[in-house]
Amino acid sequence: MSDSLRESQESPDEGDIHEMHDPIAREFERPEDGYQPIPLTLIFLFFALVGWGGWYLGAYSGDWRVDVFYPGDRATAAAEAQKESSGGTSPEELATLGKRVYAQCAACHQQNGKGVAGNFPPLDGTEWVTGPPQTLIRILLHGLEGPIQVAGNEYNAQMPAWGGQLSDRQIAAVLTYIRSAWSNQAGPVKPAQVESLRKESADRSASWTASELKSLESGQ
Ligand code: HEC
Repeated sequence: MSDSLRESQESPDEGDIHEMHDPIAREFERPEDGYQPIPLTLIFLFFALVGWGGWYLGAYSGDWRVDVFYPGDRATAAAEAQKESSGGTSPEELATLGKRVYAQCAACHQQNGKGVAGNFPPLDGTEWVTGPPQTLIRILLHGLEGPIQVAGNEYNAQMPAWGGQLSDRQIAAVLTYIRSAWSNQAGPVKPAQVESLRKESADRSASWTASELKSLESGQ
């Protein structure tokens, strides 16, 4: 190593550093004051990105329709709904569908149909469930409130109405199911029976009371 180089490494002075950087500095433009024009490629990239975004939304937004975003296959969901509301009406088919619909009743009446003492009456072995279908259909369509005797115990609470959520077929199905589940052995309920009572009570919005239902039964 020569003496002069060692010297410049050990104590580099201003002149040496500029000298060393000059070849590199020549390769680049010197920064200047003021605004510089935006590079054309950046402008092009910006519009390309905005354009691509617009195309993407147009292609994949599904016309902004809410049903497009249901999970699962649209065709399958539609077919399921169609089957639930207009499929077969044999007692076996109704009972199978009814068991599924019953999941919505089980929160209160329990999976085993025994209810919750003091709060929710049982459905297993009650005179209401195995009694006239008309009464049951009315209870499901519009709900029930006020005091009621069920299997020897008194209840006084609110049973929600299901007419708005369940189709005629679903109501017939869940009633067919509870009338034949557990120890119950009553006959099936037909969707047509639900349909005619739904029409008959179309003006009604209030829940039924047990005494109203009893007087309707004796009038029939
Ligand atoms: C939020 C709780 C709740 C849900 C859910 C519910 N019920 Fe009830 N149900 C009640 C209550 C409370 C009564 C008693 C009402 C009263 O005290 O007047 C009742 C009464 C009944 C009765 C008449 C009395 C008896 O036990 O025999 C039947 C039949 C019945 N429900 C069927 C159903 C069916 C079928 C479903 C599902 C579609 C259902 N319920 C969902 C709370 C519920």
